Amino acid sequence: MSELDRLVSEARIAFEGAPDSPSLEDAKARFLGKAGALTELLKGLGALDPEEKRTRGAEINRAKSLIEECLSNRRDALAQAQLNAKLASESIDVTLPGRSLGAGSIHPVIQTWRRIEEIFSSIGFEVADGPEVETDWMNFTALNNPENHPARSMQDTFYLEKTDSTGLPLLLRTHTSPMQVRYAKTHAPPIKVIAPGRTYRVDSDATHSPMFHQVEGLWLGEDVSFADLKGVYHDFLSRFFEDDQLDLRFRPSFFPFTEPSAEIDMRFSSGPLKGRWLEISGAGQVHPTVIRNFGFDPEKVIGFAFGSGLERLTMLRYGIGDLRLFFENDLRFLRQFA
Ligand code: PHE
Repeated sequence: MSELDRLVSEARIAFEGAPDSPSLEDAKARFLGKAGALTELLKGLGALDPEEKRTRGAEINRAKSLIEECLSNRRDALAQAQLNAKLASESIDVTLPGRSLGAGSIHPVIQTWRRIEEIFSSIGFEVADGPEVETDWMNFTALNNPENHPARSMQDTFYLEKTDSTGLPLLLRTHTSPMQVRYAKTHAPPIKVIAPGRTYRVDSDATHSPMFHQVEGLWLGEDVSFADLKGVYHDFLSRFFEDDQLDLRFRPSFFPFTEPSAEIDMRFSSGPLKGRWLEISGAGQVHPTVIRNFGFDPEKVIGFAFGSGLERLTMLRYGIGDLRLFFENDLRFLRQFA
């Protein structure tokens, strides 16, 4: 084997044995670098006569290309190995099941809200919506509940620092009843409307939450009577609870904005609550002063209003014992209504 052939084979062995690119570059320096074996041979050419120089030069250059070829093969192989290692470490197992987004569901109180809208729409009621931040006048005074009247203490609420045009602080509405005023002031009788929405009071225990939901109902016309209230409300409850046999009773009560006023109680004909009277709603014939505040003549316009708690309706429908469950976002609870 010639000296050059040996050099080429030494280089091949050295390159092939280099485990990574830094050691490969070291090995390259030994053969092709400034002080490398091949460079030394090329330097020796100077001493030869032209004829020898040409043949020897060509031989050395051939050896040089062979060594360069080995080097470049090894470089490619190392790069490929590095890429393979990277791919292997970052590999994903495509056979694993995907992580899907859980499907959401409608909150039970909102299911009640929608159900109520459906039932009342089907018997000719409009559905109205209004602000949760109210003026003192809308929430109290227009509803015949003037400043400093003791009836106001039934409904303590949250006040804003911002005041209305009369200088009284704005407040979070304590009931949906201001929607009676807002709707009646912008519509002419006959009026048949419900207004479901969020309401607020300073109250918190197993049956009261500082934020809760009500639905207001208002039916005004020339001769809308208490009998109509009874009919409409009975129809609503029996459809809501899917109980044709349920009983209703009107217990005398007081609200500043209705006269006479009543609490509506109901009694299921079957199920775990069968036979027990349960308070379900406030109601009454709209007070003449309130009719006047609507801008109507109480001699010509008469009707009734009611206000029912959506949490209470939902609790009775599903047999839920603690109102706080609605607001804790516990999926074990909420999934039962999905
Ligand atoms: N707004 C009353 C309440 O929240 C309920 C009610 C509404 C009573 C309409 C009579 C008429 O307690």
